[in-house]
Amino acid sequence: MWSDVAPGTSPTTRKAPPVTGFLRIEQLGKAYVPARPVFADVSFALDKGEFVCIIGHSGCGKTTILNVLAGLDTATAGHVIMDGREVAGPSLDRGVVFQGHALMPWFTVRQNIAFAVKSRWPEWKRAQVNAHVEKFVALVGLSHAIDKKPSELSGGMKQRVGIARAFSIQPKMLLLDEPFGALDALTRGTIQDELMAIVRQTQQTVFMITHDVDEAILLADRILLMSNGSDTPQGYVPGGIAEVVVNPLPRERTRTSLHHLDGYYALRNHIVDFLVSRAKAH
Ligand SMILES: Nc1ncnc2c1ncn2[C@@H]1O[C@H](COP(=O)(O)OP(=O)(O)O)[C@@H](O)[C@H]1O
Ligand SMILES: [Mg+2]
Repeated sequence: MWSDVAPGTSPTTRKAPPVTGFLRIEQLGKAYVPARPVFADVSFALDKGEFVCIIGHSGCGKTTILNVLAGLDTATAGHVIMDGREVAGPSLDRGVVFQGHALMPWFTVRQNIAFAVKSRWPEWKRAQVNAHVEKFVALVGLSHAIDKKPSELSGGMKQRVGIARAFSIQPKMLLLDEPFGALDALTRGTIQDELMAIVRQTQQTVFMITHDVDEAILLADRILLMSNGSDTPQGYVPGGIAEVVVNPLPRERTRTSLHHLDGYYALRNHIVDFLVSRAKAH
């Protein structure tokens, strides 16, 4: 219904979708063991300002794809092209947020973010750096904690600092690897709302991994469903993007309104069905 790939189509036999976007992933493959690539022929594109989530079971290769997009890992096959240039190494053009917040423990919130801002704009004067840092800390509601160290913050607050830091360098694209995975449901909900507000406000392009179906439905314009590699009677089939689901819900949706919207349950069931019965071909 929402797919641009017929349900049930094998990721290895389907035709690659046309790639035209701001970020283009072309026939990406990764093999640690040559005969058994984790995934193969992964192609998709993101337009500027688009929010795309990828969902799939553990081990299908989501983090590997994100690391290749970040320039932190290399693919065995294929290309990643951002804004007309091949990605070949990490860059301040891409902000990354991992599940663990990766803050420097001896720095305060202000210093952690200022460090990133100074690497991005080395010519900036102290006052300009400070004003910029304060703006992004305010955006995630942490102005009151700006001079605290990570050890004085809760898990949710630390994750917010990670998000503020990623946004503060105004990257061309944001890459998020299950950034809320370790948070309790209440905190997670609040930060999802905040992230959505900031993304809408800044028109940021985002690629995010999640295993939470509702999180994907809330945040994503499109949801990539990824299958695991599997042994079949015909031999080993690598993992890949099995289907691209376009989110039909209005973009102004909120977490509390989500399940009242027409189409929500059909969309949710479709994704859950994929995870339960199609993500791993046995
Ligand atoms: N350095 C490595 N050497 C060998 N296999 C690896 C390595 N890193 C990841 N893998 C394997 O690649 C697969 C995909 O991993 P990953 O991208 O982390 O999956 P996901 O994020 O979807 O859970 C997994 O089966 C994992 O065991
Ligand atoms: Mg992962």
